[in-house]
Amino acid sequence: MSTIIFDTATNLFYLQTEKSSYVMMLQKGAYLMHLYWGRQIPVDDITWSCEPPYRRWSRIVDPEPESDFYTSEYWPFEYPVYGSSDFRPPAIEIENLQGYSLCDLKYRSHSIYRGKGSLQGLPSLGEYQQDRATTLEIVLYDAIMEIDVVLFYSVFDQSDVLCRHSEICNKGDDPVIIRKALSSSIDMKHGNLQMIQFSGTALRERYPVKRALAYGTTSVESTRGISSHIQNPCTLFTRGSADEFQGEAYGQNLMYSGNFIASAHIDQYDSARIQLGLNPFNFSWLLASLNVFTTPETILVYSDQGTNGVSQEFHHALTALLPPGSTRVAERLIGLNTWEACYFDISHLKLMQLAEKAKEAGIELITLDDGWFGRRNDDHSSLGDWNVNKHKFPKGLNAVSEELHQMGLKFGLWLEPEMVSPESDFYNEHPDWCLHIPGRKRTQWRYQLVLDLSKNEVCDYLIEMVSEILRTSGVDYVKWDMNRRLTEVGNELGSSVGQREISHRYILGLYRLLDTLVKRFPNVCFENCASGGGRYDAGMLYYLPQAWPSDNTDPSSRMKILYGSTFGYPLSNFRSHVTDSPNHQLGRRHSLQFREHVATCGILGYELDITKLDQQEIDVIQEHNCWYKQYRSIIQNGVFYRLEDPFIGNKAAFQVVSQDKKTTIFWFFRYRAEPEEAYFQIKLCGLDPAEHYKCLETGRCYHAKTLMNLGLTLPWVNHDDLSVRWTFSRLDD
Ligand code: DGJ
Repeated sequence: MSTIIFDTATNLFYLQTEKSSYVMMLQKGAYLMHLYWGRQIPVDDITWSCEPPYRRWSRIVDPEPESDFYTSEYWPFEYPVYGSSDFRPPAIEIENLQGYSLCDLKYRSHSIYRGKGSLQGLPSLGEYQQDRATTLEIVLYDAIMEIDVVLFYSVFDQSDVLCRHSEICNKGDDPVIIRKALSSSIDMKHGNLQMIQFSGTALRERYPVKRALAYGTTSVESTRGISSHIQNPCTLFTRGSADEFQGEAYGQNLMYSGNFIASAHIDQYDSARIQLGLNPFNFSWLLASLNVFTTPETILVYSDQGTNGVSQEFHHALTALLPPGSTRVAERLIGLNTWEACYFDISHLKLMQLAEKAKEAGIELITLDDGWFGRRNDDHSSLGDWNVNKHKFPKGLNAVSEELHQMGLKFGLWLEPEMVSPESDFYNEHPDWCLHIPGRKRTQWRYQLVLDLSKNEVCDYLIEMVSEILRTSGVDYVKWDMNRRLTEVGNELGSSVGQREISHRYILGLYRLLDTLVKRFPNVCFENCASGGGRYDAGMLYYLPQAWPSDNTDPSSRMKILYGSTFGYPLSNFRSHVTDSPNHQLGRRHSLQFREHVATCGILGYELDITKLDQQEIDVIQEHNCWYKQYRSIIQNGVFYRLEDPFIGNKAAFQVVSQDKKTTIFWFFRYRAEPEEAYFQIKLCGLDPAEHYKCLETGRCYHAKTLMNLGLTLPWVNHDDLSVRWTFSRLDD
């Protein structure tokens, strides 16, 4: 059971998750030190000590905090500061009105309690699962700066996740300026660590990159106002030879959708300082007297089962510990999206033709993508003018929804509420509602500007605008898009609001907007999209239960994006569509079967003109949809394994095991044939070792140990595009 204990005799804080321990110590009752994070250790072991490294001039390292010879450079601080003798990157930097920024955080008090509070205006894990959570609050203070820093830690029953964040409270009469406030900082022995980051760009999101940590700082960040396609707030660390299946692996992820920084600093003693939080770049926050600033929450996971072990804990946390709701737990619907089917050339008639064929093929949801409003015949105009285009939809959206509902289909609608086209009535009415710096040009990206969500009146307007559409048009599903980065992050209010606060205030405004809408419309399912995966993060996942992870729908790219995305995020968040061949982004051809197999490893959907397919193709689609409906709850809720890395060689393999281990689904893709290739043998994972399993597609029976130790031999064909999707059922059933 997960628990938190403070041992008064040793001044030790023990935080236990189901299988891991996280230990801190109060050095001389004053400074909070980080001692350990790893495999579980006994809570009653008092052999802990916190030694500085051996030094020839050891007498200058005085462990008495009040001594002038106390040298903080050597100690593993839990929430480090800069300004005295710790020269590593700090977790917090605060400046007072005199311009001094030295902070000396000492222990004041702590409390341990069952449950977990929510974070002011920010998403967090477990606030709706109070009966599973135990929380520790440690209050540190700086007497001269007159600030309290409260560190929050929560653990959860049946979970290996630990959450951290901090609150900074200004106890003085004068304001202070926060220059940096990270969510987590962990000092640990270097011990041969590698960092895995998830990097790329639009159409190539979250490709894993593993690098050995070297002396100095290794970091990834976003400065784009969104968590971004370029880097992701999730990073993993592996020790020594740990891999996907074995060894020590650590994961950290931030529940935040804006500018972040994730870093690891290796000092001269080979100690690592691993940090995550709001990016201090172009950030500061004026904290008035008696006000509190809350950092976003970091999710920490340790596993001795390699990186798959870390991912499975993230998957569990990012489903079971998020706000409950019918759309979060509901089986994911098979959708058809109009974007690659018709782009802007959409109309009532065309939509109904697609719907009719889709219905025949077993599709359940039709999403009307971009092009339905204003004068939107291309991407040059109309964002902000959210009234239906009467030429394309003469009977309005409500008629669309009624007709779809009569056919037994759900109605999805694309919206991009955070944006405005300069060529729109809305922009003419509210030219100052977008982010801008007075007197400077306003950079357009896809012919659009970003509304200033740091302003309350803009958010209030958007809440009512979206509510009105949802209320009047019978929408069951929303695809929430956001197609650019933030530039000219500022507004006409100048220093009266603090221009460096705007990026963070934008995200707080966005969260308020999403929170209000998902609570107001609990039966509408929202999908997170930002030009594909530009905000594929745990913050968005808190509000919106699923995402469009990339605009690259080529299946051999998709499996790479899937591979990288599943390190930090569950399969239930990953929508995949069967699209045209040749593919619109890369021009590659893939068989329908291959495209289906890739798209069924996630949330299945379609994005092609289904009316142009022949009956044989419709029958194939129908067959896959039928299979998917039978197994989608396992795909959505099962235990997921990455078996083969698509970045090595020409193949990928994935597996999902149902929670009761009765069923497992195995996907194998060999996307390019190679001459004289050896047969592929792939081992399955997570089965009931005493049982037999039958492959429903081939009819063959196997002992689980054979499947897990010898593995499956895959067929070979002399062409590209070999794919296999096998469903195994435990034989006792
Ligand atoms: C970007 C999205 O990722 C696409 O799927 C599509 O919705 C377009 N925007 C529409 O403009």
